This record gives sequence, C-alpha cells and structure tokens, in this order.
Amino acid sequence: MTAEASAPAKAILFGEHAVVYGQPAIAVPISGLRAFASVQPSSAGLRITAADLDIPVNIDAESVDNALALTAKLVLKALGVSPPQVTIAIRSDIPIASGLGSGASVATALARALCQAVGARLSESALNEMIYEVEKIHHGTPSGIDNTVIVYERPVYFVRGQPLETLTIGAPFSLIIADTGKSASTRDAVAGVRELYDSDPAGVQALLDAIGALVIRARAAIETGQVVDLGELMTSNHQLLRKLTVSSPELDNLVSAALDAGALGAKLSGGGRGGNMIALVTPETRTQVAAALTLAGAVHTITTEVR
Ligand code: PMV
Repeated sequence: MTAEASAPAKAILFGEHAVVYGQPAIAVPISGLRAFASVQPSSAGLRITAADLDIPVNIDAESVDNALALTAKLVLKALGVSPPQVTIAIRSDIPIASGLGSGASVATALARALCQAVGARLSESALNEMIYEVEKIHHGTPSGIDNTVIVYERPVYFVRGQPLETLTIGAPFSLIIADTGKSASTRDAVAGVRELYDSDPAGVQALLDAIGALVIRARAAIETGQVVDLGELMTSNHQLLRKLTVSSPELDNLVSAALDAGALGAKLSGGGRGGNMIALVTPETRTQVAAALTLAGAVHTITTEVR
C-alpha cells in the first residue's frame, strides 16, 4: 500500500516582520505550488528521504535538530504510536529559503503522510501547533503565520497568539510571484529588524504601527474586492519594509519593473533581503508584467489566483 499527502506554498500579502511584534498580517496559500510526501513499505524502520537526504528517525533521541526528524517524532508522540516500517519520500516544487514557506509545507506534508501510514488522524489545530514547533528550527522565533496558512490552506488574517481568522475574498485577484534567485535567511532578516528596533525603539515602532494600520485597510480592500486600493497598499507596505532594511537592490528592481509594466501594486514577500516579490495584476496586465519581471532579472515567475 502506498499513500501520498501534500501541502501548499504560501505568500505573505501584508504585514511580514511587523507580525513578529504583534501587528496583524495577511497570507494566502499557493495551492498550485506544493510539497508532497509519499509512503512506501520498508523493512528498515522509519526513514525519511528527500532529494539528497536519507534520515533514519530515532524517536527516542533526546534532542532532534533536523526539522523532518522532529516532525516525525512530534507526530508519533502525539498519536502515541511506534514508528511504522515505512520510507517517506519527500519531494517539493517550492523553492527553499525564498519566502514561500517551503519548510512548513514539507513538514506538513510529512506529518500528514505519517498519519496515513499509521492509520490515524490529527486535528488541524494539533498539526498546526506541531508545525509551529518545527518552524522554530528554521526561524528561531516564528510568528506562526507560515504554519497557519499552510496547514489550513485558507487565506488568513493572522495576529500572533490569537485564534485563527480566515478571510473572505470579495473578488478573485491574480498575483505574479517573482524570484530574485537569491536565497536569504529569514532568521537573519528577523534578527536584523530586532537590532534596528533595539537601536531606535520609537522610530521602528512607528513603522510597525504604520504597517499594522495598512494591514487593517488591506483586509477591508480584500473583503470588498477593491483591487486598485489593494495594489496601492501593497506598494506602501513595500516602502515600509525598505525602511525596516529587509528589501534588497534585486527586490526593489523587480518591484519597480512590475509597477512600470502596469502592475496595480508590488512588494517583497516573506523574510526579504532576497527571495520573492509579489505583484498584483489584472488579466490585461498579467502577460506584460510577467515579461517585464523576467527581463528585469527574475529567475522564475509563477502566476496564482487568490479566490
Ligand atoms: O520568509 P518566510 O516566508 O518564512 O516569512 C517570514 C515572515 C516573517 O514575518 C518575516 C517572520 C515570521 O515569523 O512571521
């Protein structure tokens, strides 16, 4: 018997970084871009394989610093079962270290596949808490937005530590996600903002408050289908993220290229300093914006509809 599970990528539309300090943020799943985990019988205990990895899982180990092994350990512990005799093979279409939630998505797919392998179920809220623990390995002090949008696979309005709020999309809209080709560490970017905050608490708090206010307006624009307003808010959010020092010349260049080609708005998405940017497009501007982004140096573009 074989089984397969999957989980989506995600994009943060508004509020990254400020969300770490308690401001709201908005994120959407990218259902067309996924991580998969498939289960095959094995006679060598529980193993997890990925592109260039083959990890035996020892759930009795005291400390587990590999995210995949930790995921398996947490799932088996929560279910109170012993490791099944299976190999779980991971494959993912999501670029790593580029702000699309690859780590949380891979862990979610793995956890779901492992549940199938032992014939048990975990509630989404239990799974979400587990993936949050795994995210700490990647990010240190994650806000929890990545695991939440990925586990529930719904657009979310997220405030750290508060119950999940899903968003209603007033009118579907399209995003182009463009990759700078430069991977960047979210952990380092978050630490950079922390240093900035410590050096000028009042100045940085004003930027964080401005982002929070903008996220509240963005929520209203999304729920009422005001795409022009939404675009303007995205670009304003990018300007505030630049002030938080988490943009990069490549990201700024792609944002300008998208706006010049007619995008309604554009911003970096996720940890920044590399990784991906997102541009809001209409059916009329979509092709020209994607072409302009490629010409400006994007190594990869993906179009996704938010509905
Ligand atoms: O780089 P990503 O996609 O994992 O996004 C990180 C989002 C931050 O707000 C910068 C950090 C966090 O934990 O929310």
